[in-house]
Amino acid sequence: MNSPTNPQFVHFFFIFINYLCFTDAENIFLNCGSSSNSIDLNGREWAGDSTPGSKFIASHQPNETSIVSKATNLNPSIDPVPYLTARIFQSPFTYSFPVTPGHKFLRLFFNPSAYHGFQSPGDFFTVTAGPFTLLTHFSPSLTAQSLGLKTLDKEFCLHIQENQVLNITFSPSSVPLGAFAFVNGIEIISMPAHLYYISRARPMPNGFAVPNSTALELMHRLNIGGDSISPANDSGLYRRWLDDEACFVGSGDCVVNSTAPIKYWKIAPYVAPAKVYQTARCTNKQKSLSWNLTVDSGFTYFVRLHLCELHNHPEVTKHGRNKFVVRIGNGKTDAVEDVITWSGRRGVAVYRDHVVKMPKVGNYGKTHLFLSLGNNNSNNKLRALDSDPILNGLEVFKLSDSQSNLAAGVNPVSKIPEADKSRDRKLVFIISGATLAAFTLILLLGLTIFIFRRKESNEKDKSVTLRGLCRRFTLEELRDATNNFDRALVIGNGGFGRVFKGCIDGGTPVAIKALKPTSTQGSKEFEAEIKMLSDLRYRHLVSLIGCCDEGVKIIVYEYMPGGTLRDHLYSTKGPPLSWKQRLEISIGVARGIKYLHGENTKIIHRDIKPSNILLDDNLVAKISDFGLSRFGPTSLSRSHVTTGVRGTFGYVDPEYFETSRLSVKSDVYSFGVVLFEMLCARPAVDLRLDDEQPTLAEWVRHCIKVGKLKQIMDPNLKGQISPGCLKAYVGIALKCLNNDRHKRPTMAAVLKKLKRALELQECTDAASDDNGEDEEEIMNNNDKQLFLKPNKNAKVVHSCPTFWN
Ligand SMILES: *[C@@H]1O[C@H](CO)[C@@H](O)[C@H](O)[C@H]1NC(C)=O
Ligand SMILES: *[C@@H]1O[C@H](CO)[C@@H](O)[C@H](O)[C@H]1NC(C)=O
Ligand SMILES: *[C@@H]1O[C@H](CO)[C@@H](O)[C@H](O)[C@H]1NC(C)=O
Ligand SMILES: *[C@@H]1O[C@H](CO)[C@@H](O)[C@H](O)[C@H]1NC(C)=O
Ligand SMILES: *[C@@H]1O[C@H](CO)[C@@H](O)[C@H](O)[C@H]1NC(C)=O
Ligand SMILES: *[C@@H]1O[C@H](CO)[C@@H](O)[C@H](O)[C@H]1NC(C)=O
Ligand SMILES: *[C@@H]1O[C@H](CO)[C@@H](O)[C@H](O)[C@H]1NC(C)=O
Repeated sequence: MNSPTNPQFVHFFFIFINYLCFTDAENIFLNCGSSSNSIDLNGREWAGDSTPGSKFIASHQPNETSIVSKATNLNPSIDPVPYLTARIFQSPFTYSFPVTPGHKFLRLFFNPSAYHGFQSPGDFFTVTAGPFTLLTHFSPSLTAQSLGLKTLDKEFCLHIQENQVLNITFSPSSVPLGAFAFVNGIEIISMPAHLYYISRARPMPNGFAVPNSTALELMHRLNIGGDSISPANDSGLYRRWLDDEACFVGSGDCVVNSTAPIKYWKIAPYVAPAKVYQTARCTNKQKSLSWNLTVDSGFTYFVRLHLCELHNHPEVTKHGRNKFVVRIGNGKTDAVEDVITWSGRRGVAVYRDHVVKMPKVGNYGKTHLFLSLGNNNSNNKLRALDSDPILNGLEVFKLSDSQSNLAAGVNPVSKIPEADKSRDRKLVFIISGATLAAFTLILLLGLTIFIFRRKESNEKDKSVTLRGLCRRFTLEELRDATNNFDRALVIGNGGFGRVFKGCIDGGTPVAIKALKPTSTQGSKEFEAEIKMLSDLRYRHLVSLIGCCDEGVKIIVYEYMPGGTLRDHLYSTKGPPLSWKQRLEISIGVARGIKYLHGENTKIIHRDIKPSNILLDDNLVAKISDFGLSRFGPTSLSRSHVTTGVRGTFGYVDPEYFETSRLSVKSDVYSFGVVLFEMLCARPAVDLRLDDEQPTLAEWVRHCIKVGKLKQIMDPNLKGQISPGCLKAYVGIALKCLNNDRHKRPTMAAVLKKLKRALELQECTDAASDDNGEDEEEIMNNNDKQLFLKPNKNAKVVHSCPTFWN
């Protein structure tokens, strides 16, 4: 191909021999998730991967599990083979193909529709084949959506060595939480050795080779000027050729559609079917043919032009009359093509290969490879050429990089969807049907639960554009920052998603919270949090650093090396927090909440709890997680806003729960629970303890009433608390828990009392040596009355499942 003279014949001969050889190689059509063999609309037979004795499923390791599922709603225009059934993976899973050595097409088929229990866009995964990374953090649903496709096919070319087993592994991404992988079909087709692999012995015109150590990913395969060609009508290699309507942008004005036979004198017939060479786009002087092709930036591309002068292409008569300039990419790759010289005569098919490197651009990762055929050349030499450019077919492959990687790993940016009300209603239904046991389990796991009321009055979510609010990170930057979202770097986990520790700008530690895309209200929370935090800067609030919205929604915060208060109370590895440390933390939190409630901000946090209180190196407390926060009442005449109840069980203000009236006092209630949690080191909801008082709030009230406060205090605090301090602390904490919000103190009052408690403690500590009175005594004397305001209306509101009815 590289020389217009004799060696071409040798080349052709070589290919021909190869062609004869490869036809007996085996082809594999695997219909994933199917338990029977079936025929597709093209008449090919697919084997089910769940048929008894199916030999390709390698993963029988105990932890590698997969689920077989059917698309819940298959579009009638989609071939059920192989798109109806899928195999779904929640952990890495390997298919093992003991294939013959040589070059192979590997095709993966995806139908990103809904499967039982698995909803897009939760599909984020990595696919490797042998040493090659084919796809990283790939989301078929987002990709198909952005391309306007119902199904997605991916084609790769690989070389299999002698005795090598082809292992194809699907690994769900570690973000978002609950990400899964799936595949509907896998096709492995043997390929003639010299079809796309170009040995160094006979390189491309520019000296480039495609060695066996390279993997290729198909980006575009176009039948220029013609109709799409189905895999069944390809030359035995089951390739799909598309028409070029979507990417043709040139001014070329003629289309060739011939029925003349194509002479495969210079190339093997399998290179492209005759239909490709029988149709073309052409033009004449002063005009050009151009295609705008979307590719991933930062990779090298292999571009193959299929050329054939056809009888009815006007004016092509003799050699040298049909030279034209091919310009690929940035214009640096100019080449002169002379079809008649290459092919020798009309009707003879040839192809020409080029390589172009696309520089890395932007944060989206996509770029446009521009291909243009014309008679303009920057060096002027060919300016006067009397040329008629023509192009019959076009193939563009991405070449794997030096790390054997083909994956750009960037998903199209998804649009923030409108709040979906029907989905909310569905959730209410699901929750109300849930059994108490499941419900209890959720409570014990300490997850944030969203409680939906029938109507969300007054709550108008203004669509917020995030542009300009904070630093925008690319997914790739955050991937680099977290070692590709390494599970070992997970520092937080919950219903919202996962939090990773990462490192940006060459050494700054950050906390990277990847939101779960399927969480209802996910994008609203994401927007709310960024909107709130970008305006807030305060010592006791965690700082926002930036965000990312590329398929996954991610928020980047300052890193808090001390972890959460919750970890220090329950699962602590280090020494338990001292009483003074707890007091100081409670004061920091009180300051933070007071700041939020202040005149200038008027923010109600709605989810104050120990897992949302973070500590820095010096145990300075900072409030985090503003996903549920909202702005409080703006007019002075009202003290509350009416809104759907959100929050976490055990911490939710009972009045808010019953009336949907949210006020700053709801945060005061939650903070009261936190105060007792710090004193007792007992979770806000713990069903193991006592059926009567499963919530901490009820339980402490009960214990104080019967004079047993000492028994429920954290044993680690024994002997540390001065009686005066305890009295002040318990007193203010109890006031926070008052069922009537009007009787609860403001945060300013709470802060004042806590500071007083700290002073009392410090006084005692200074007086040191006597260990003071017994705490129990304090609670048993007359002062007891101080703390107890028996409330006749007190109900065990948090644990009662009847609320769901
Ligand atoms: C497999 O799962 C078990 C428990 O489910 C776990 O202890 C073990 O570490 C897992 N092994 C691997 C390789 O992940
Ligand atoms: C590449 O693979 C082909 C087919 O397996 C083989 O014939 C050829 O020798 C290999 N080339 C090199 C350089 O290994
Ligand atoms: C392929 O997978 C099988 C089963 O998991 C494993 O035994 C084999 O070593 C793997 N081969 C390669 C080349 O990775
Ligand atoms: C080419 O011609 C055939 C029949 O003559 C017709 O069916 C086909 O649609 C034409 N293709 C194009 C792209 O015009
Ligand atoms: C293959 O080509 C033939 C003839 O052009 C056409 O009738 C048939 O529908 C094509 N097959 C498919 C699957 O497109
Ligand atoms: C050719 O080059 C001339 C001058 O640079 C320009 O005006 C003309 O538009 C070009 N034609 C095409 C087809 O690119
Ligand atoms: C290619 O198309 C994209 C979007 O459709 C456009 O932004 C870009 O400018 C085009 N490139 C050229 C060279 O026309």
